[in-house]
Amino acid sequence: MKKDIFDILVEISEIMNTIFETDELIPQILNITEKFLNVKRVSLMLIDDNKLKIIAATNLPVNFKEIEIPIGEGISGRVAMSGKPVIVNNESSCEDELGYKAKSYLSFPLKVRDKVIGVLNLTDKENDFFNNTDVKIAGYIASQCALAINRFSLYEEKKKTEHLKVIGKFTSSIAHDIKNLLQIVQSYIELMEIEMEGESEIKLYIDSICTEVKLIHGLTLDILDFANKQINLRKSRVRLSDFLNEIKKHADILTNLTPIKFEVTFEEDIEFECDKEKLFRVFFNLINNSIEAVGENGNIGLDVKKKDGDLIFELIDDGKGIKKENIDKIFDPFFTSGKMKGTGLGLAVVKEIVQAHKGVITVESEENKYTKFTVRIPIV
Ligand SMILES: Nc1ncnc2c1ncn2[C@@H]1O[C@H](COP(=O)(O)OP(=O)(O)OP(=O)(O)O)[C@@H](O)[C@H]1O
Ligand SMILES: [Mg+2]
Repeated sequence: MKKDIFDILVEISEIMNTIFETDELIPQILNITEKFLNVKRVSLMLIDDNKLKIIAATNLPVNFKEIEIPIGEGISGRVAMSGKPVIVNNESSCEDELGYKAKSYLSFPLKVRDKVIGVLNLTDKENDFFNNTDVKIAGYIASQCALAINRFSLYEEKKKTEHLKVIGKFTSSIAHDIKNLLQIVQSYIELMEIEMEGESEIKLYIDSICTEVKLIHGLTLDILDFANKQINLRKSRVRLSDFLNEIKKHADILTNLTPIKFEVTFEEDIEFECDKEKLFRVFFNLINNSIEAVGENGNIGLDVKKKDGDLIFELIDDGKGIKKENIDKIFDPFFTSGKMKGTGLGLAVVKEIVQAHKGVITVESEENKYTKFTVRIPIV
């Protein structure tokens, strides 16, 4: 007895629902199509880079994976573009787009909501033409197929994210250990500095080691903050002049073997509340970038003023500037450009810290002229 279409659809959905591995999905789709529609050839194409690429097929030469069909061209290309199926039933056989002779051809779009993700092609129904029932079954297989492919790609994405989370945890635990060890190294260097009082040349070396250690320390803190996402502030009252002196001292160490000029100016000395260490790291990162941007020589200036209840820090350098096409990306994590060893985390962390202070950071730049970062935080 001939099976009722309803039974066929139920059987197809039962088979599709038992697939749990990506590897099984595609062969099953081909099997189902062959089994229920009795065709000589089935091909499944997915859109990639505005072209249809055959990802699986029955009865095609082995090198079918190299075949690419531009969207809009040939029957399947047109189906992908219009999102509508095409049925061809010819009395005499004609060539399909892959160069095969066939009398009947059925091409269905694979759609997820309104988006076409590929095409399912059935060629040459055995001793027959495609009838209305075949079209319904093929349409149902195509819709189940699109949903399954979408479900699996979401699943793959999820697996990737979980993998990244594990790497993130691993990295932050290492960063945490390095940070603790560096704190010990830093304490020993400070002790050496005290012991070496007066021996100017060695003191210079110690200063340099100290700077490098602080750089590594800052980097580990960036990684930790970034992995934690949540930035916890430890606020205290800070005098602006003390804070700027700290920054100046640090910038001088970084530039003392170069002709780079670093200048700090401020209008009024006030007290404000902030996480001193973290805000220091904001300027430490920004100044590091400026030093890298000016190269061998240049000018960097930090000016601070009060306006409408906010403290405004403007850091300007006359370095290489930022390309227009990059300016929207510089605060993105891992965006780095023009550096050998940049991690691209500096500005992402800077932005997080400024926002944790309920502040904003903006940038202005012209290539080969200047870059200006403005940090604005409310005075509390
Ligand atoms: N003052 C600046 N002048 C020119 N380009 C800058 C300046 N500040 C940032 N940039 C650009 O923004 C990019 C991102 O900066 P960010 O501090 O986030 O990462 P990085 O400096 O590349 O690496 P990291 O800080 O982790 O060592 C830099 O690679 C650089 O191309
Ligand atoms: Mg940086």
